[in-house]
Amino acid sequence: QEAAERGTHWDGPSEGFAAALAGCQRCHLCHHATQVVPGIGPEAADLMIVGEQPGDREDLEGVPFVGPAGQVLTQAMATAGVSREGVYMTNAVKHYKHIVRGKRRIHQSPNRDEIQHCQFWLDAEVGRVKPKMIVALGATAALSLTGRNGPMKTRRGTVEPGRLGVPVLITYHPAYVLRLRDQAAQDAARAALSADLATAWKQQ
Ligand code: URA
Repeated sequence: QEAAERGTHWDGPSEGFAAALAGCQRCHLCHHATQVVPGIGPEAADLMIVGEQPGDREDLEGVPFVGPAGQVLTQAMATAGVSREGVYMTNAVKHYKHIVRGKRRIHQSPNRDEIQHCQFWLDAEVGRVKPKMIVALGATAALSLTGRNGPMKTRRGTVEPGRLGVPVLITYHPAYVLRLRDQAAQDAARAALSADLATAWKQQ
């Protein structure tokens, strides 16, 4: 456990992984979230999908992609013919970053430091699952997996070399899709998300 807190990469056995992750205090986010939200899916999946961080619902349930954005993703995967059972799904950051306003908990994007601290866990998951391709949902996942920032407008739908030697297909975050108020724009973004998922599914 202590080594997990200090080290730069996970070198413990896979049975200890969940417990070590649950006790993570590598950054301050653990003090605000309800619980850590680990990845979900088969230990050896050819395709990995990486989001930003758990949302409100995920924080309460301890499972990724169960809230509104997760529903958009689930729908896009179904349209793309991607089987959930064949995919390992996780997040770049494992604790919910938010601020409290009255009764509401408002999402805040993780910063570079928080993303970097959590790479310890993401890298361990990639090392364990050994996917052939990774889909990065949005800018945070793209930054964490490629080490590069850049406008989603030009990066979306492209495959970039990953920091860990696994190619990364960059696409929209489902929460971004939900935020689009114009129906035509939202439909187009949904279609782009499922087209990218279908491409990744075929290539893996
Ligand atoms: N958004 C994410 O990026 N991940 C989740 O698990 C839920 C919402």
